[in-house]
Amino acid sequence: MTGVMEFLKCLFSIALILSITEANAGNFHFREAPKFYNSPKCPSVHYTTTPAASSAKICSDNAVHVAMTLDASYLRGSMAAILSVLQHSSCPENMIFHFVASAAADTSHLNLTIANSFPYLQFNIYPFDDSPVAGLISTSIRAALDCPLNYARNYLADLLPKCVQKVVYLDSDLVLVDDISNLAATPLGNEAVLAAPEYCNANFTSYFTPTFWSNPSLSLTFANRKPCYFNTGVMVVDLERWRAGDYTTKIVEWMELQKRVRIYELGSLPPFLLVFAGNIAPVDHQWNQHGLGASCIGVERVNRGFDSMLTDLALWMLCGHLMIYYKRHILLILENFCN
Ligand SMILES: *[C@@H]1O[C@H](CO)[C@@H](O)[C@H](O)[C@H]1NC(C)=O
Ligand SMILES: *[C@@H]1O[C@H](CO)[C@@H](O)[C@H](O)[C@H]1NC(C)=O
Repeated sequence: MTGVMEFLKCLFSIALILSITEANAGNFHFREAPKFYNSPKCPSVHYTTTPAASSAKICSDNAVHVAMTLDASYLRGSMAAILSVLQHSSCPENMIFHFVASAAADTSHLNLTIANSFPYLQFNIYPFDDSPVAGLISTSIRAALDCPLNYARNYLADLLPKCVQKVVYLDSDLVLVDDISNLAATPLGNEAVLAAPEYCNANFTSYFTPTFWSNPSLSLTFANRKPCYFNTGVMVVDLERWRAGDYTTKIVEWMELQKRVRIYELGSLPPFLLVFAGNIAPVDHQWNQHGLGASCIGVERVNRGFDSMLTDLALWMLCGHLMIYYKRHILLILENFCN
């Protein structure tokens, strides 16, 4: 019985925390992150303050380029992701962030927020005109996947300066816990355009509709390939090879076809699979812990009964830790909660 009472007390305090965070959800304030310094072994990128030289720095091969999308509603996730990348990098001063934001977004606010929290960060914001993409998106089974910014990863080769040869693309709902230069150094071999975590046990058939599989002129696209599902949220992309092969157009062509014939149900992933599955280089699975590593036994969704009231909130018990998510971002981890 005491257990039940304790649990109810816990639930009550959770409800309190949640109502506070809910109220503040639209108006975040972020603290300033400390400066992160290079270790002595880091290669040098060109440091000068003249405008010409700053573009030389962007073009330096020794820089690690990271691309992410940025929008006001997911800002909290992006901030956590950026901090986690810097914290675990041995050469944080050599990192250059390329943020893609909707052209309709308040870019100066985003710019200011990033610059205030990360005053030492090298970054650029690229406005992404999402109207052409919006016209190509057919509604998927998950509304969150229909946001045009989800498709920005297909346009990196055009958006980023031509001198950027390689970029690590990261979704904005993740936390990195290792040195990103190791991820960026994932070998691409002689041909691969990108590397991503591949899962050959996933049922590849299920990513496309029966219409697709029953039409040989479509499904033959996978002939001579061993296609596997891969996660497009953690990718190392060779932008030179991408540009040379004009892969942006190839992906757009599949999206145009999808507008006429429904060949898949999910959002931005299937066109990537159509173009690249079977031809990518693998990223070590340790870089991609689904559910932020919540793979240990004892994971339990706590707020199931409240789902209709708290659609954006999720509470998970993970091995005695309570994890509070808001819109898929971890707000709070209460360790040894209620023990
Ligand atoms: C962000 O702010 C900096 C400094 O004020 C400015 O130089 C830069 O052009 C701004 N970038 C964007 C995309 O607004
Ligand atoms: C894979 O998915 C397809 C379509 O969703 C289904 O028909 C098939 O039985 C599944 N195969 C396996 C091995 O689960």
